[in-house]
This record gives sequence, C-alpha cells and structure tokens, in this order.
Amino acid sequence: MKLFGIETSCDETAAAVVEDGVKVLSNVIASSIDLHQATGGVVPEVAAREHLKQISPVVDKALADAGCQWSDIDAIAVTTHPGLVASLLVGINTAQALAYIHQKPLVEVNHIYGHIYANFLERETAPQFPLLVLTVSGGHNELMLMKGYHDFEKLGETLDDAAGEAFDKVARLLGLGYPGGPIISKLAAEGDPRAFDFPRPMLDQENRLNFSFSGLKSAVRREVENLKEADDQTIRDLAASFEYAAIETLVDKLVLAAEEYNPKEVHLAGGVSANRLLRKMAREKLADNLPLYWPVEQIFCTDNAAMIAGAAYWQIKRNSL
Ligand code: KG4
Ligand code: ZN
Repeated sequence: MKLFGIETSCDETAAAVVEDGVKVLSNVIASSIDLHQATGGVVPEVAAREHLKQISPVVDKALADAGCQWSDIDAIAVTTHPGLVASLLVGINTAQALAYIHQKPLVEVNHIYGHIYANFLERETAPQFPLLVLTVSGGHNELMLMKGYHDFEKLGETLDDAAGEAFDKVARLLGLGYPGGPIISKLAAEGDPRAFDFPRPMLDQENRLNFSFSGLKSAVRREVENLKEADDQTIRDLAASFEYAAIETLVDKLVLAAEEYNPKEVHLAGGVSANRLLRKMAREKLADNLPLYWPVEQIFCTDNAAMIAGAAYWQIKRNSL
C-alpha cells in the first residue's frame, strides 16, 4: 500500500510517499528555519505564508521522486493536530483538495504518533512489543508504552516545556540562534558539563515519569543574569551543563520506566532524538540486553512527512482488522 503524506504543523513543508509503513519512496522537506533565525523562534504567520509558497512544488517533487502517478497512491495522509493552526490548515486544505481531485481516502494523523512511527521507517526487523518510547521534540515530551502497532498507554508527559523547547529557549537566552538543539549540542561538545550545577527536576514519587523543564530553564537564566558578561568558554560550559542536566533527566526517567514496565525494546523519537548525548547516555544507562532504537536516518528525527505516511499505514491496518 502506497501512502502520500503531508506535514505542515510547524516550520517544515513536507511531503512523502511511503510503502507499507516502512519503505520510504520519497521524502521532500522545505524548511523555513532560516526565516526564523532573526526572531529566535517560529513566528506562526511567517511559517504559514512559507507553507503556502512551498506546498505545491513540494507535493509535485514528492510524487516525482517516488516515481509514482496519483493512480499509484492508495490514500492521502495529513497531520491534523497538534501544531500551529494556520500552518496545519495549509496541509489539511491541500490534502483535502488532492483527495477530492484524485478520489482517494483521506487519513488524519496526529503529529506525535507520526514521530513514534518514524522509528519503523526503513527498519529491517519487526518490532517486539511492548516497547517503551520517549518522544521528545520542540512541542512534545512523552513517555509511552506501546503494546501493539496501535495500542498506547501514556506513562508520563511534561507539565510545562518540552525538552526541545528548553533547548530553543536556552539558545535564545545565550544569543545562539534557532533551532537551539543542534547549536547547543555542538557547543556543549567543547564545554564542561560539570561547570554549573543545574537542577534535575521531578524525581519525586508522584511525578517520577513526568517531566518539567521550566525550572532548569530559569536556573540557566539566573546564571546568565549573574554573569553579566560571558566569554566564549563560559557559554560552552553553560551549554554543556544545561545539555547534561536536560538529557540526564530524560534518561533517568526512561530507565525508571524501563525497570517498571519491562519493555522488549526502547525507542527514542522526535527532534531531540537526534541528540548524540541522549543516544549515548540512554545506551549506557539502560540494561545491556535491552535493544535501543532511534530513527534510522537523522532526517526522520525532526519533522517530515514520511513519518505521517508511515503512521497512516498502521492506522489503516488497525481500522481494517
Ligand atoms: O520534532 P521536531 O522537528 O518538531 C516538533 O515536533 O517540535 O523537533 C524540533 C526540536 C527543536 O526544539 C530542536 O531544538 C530539537 O528538536 N532538536 C534537538 C537536536 N536537534 C533538534 N535538540 C537537542 N539536540 C539535537 N541534536
Ligand atoms: Zn515534530
């Protein structure tokens, strides 16, 4: 089954063709990140206008790259929520029009589930359930137990900022640009993660699988304000200490959940799953015999439409059972 996916929930205009939830035949992404550098974050109106410009060429290229005609496509999948409303509407309207013109079923996909199914793209072996998945991106931060292809139990979530959002806000605080994750991660490699002692929040019993990053963000802000002027090495040390605190919090909760729920595998998903320290620390702290996965390609970590077409396939399979 070949599905055509469309994703426009934030600042990436994306379209893709995926076969049977696994084989990526095309994956086209036009990002408006450059336009958001000056503001240190996404301005919804700017993002939506860019989607309007990009959506037609991106759709055409995704079909052409896959070597397909519309007659080869079984259904059209689109992200309907969560996301920036004006941005989502561009994708939804496009998908509805394509479905109408080419007489295809339309599949509505939740963006967070898209990130989760990104781990099945181009994967060569069948997943073993139950599996534990940590979804960490700019907008989402969740721990889920996945008991089957479409059977989820939410174990924990953020009570305020998502981890990626914290990376973005700290980068803005340090005057480093957008998106913060890759920039902080790069600087952190040359900094001392023990230079500043930042808090690792929410380790009490009741919230042991929930997350909160606003306290950590405020602690960085206080430190920056106290410093008044910071040299390049201090910025690197701040980046490294923040990254270490944020990632250790994520991994410690992942390990707690793994010990409690005994999954057969553990998955990292979403933009922050591209983070090298997260992958390394998760591997080190999880039991040696517990398989750990993250998206096969870096491009499947951040927003893309292949994950939406992939998720739609498993949704259709579930509904046809
Ligand atoms: O999944 P995504 O593209 O969009 C949302 O659904 O939010 O994730 C984007 C987020 C941004 O906050 C970005 O700073 C973060 O993922 N990110 C990273 C890295 N690459 C992207 N965070 C930490 N380390 C990275 N290497
Ligand atoms: Zn996302």
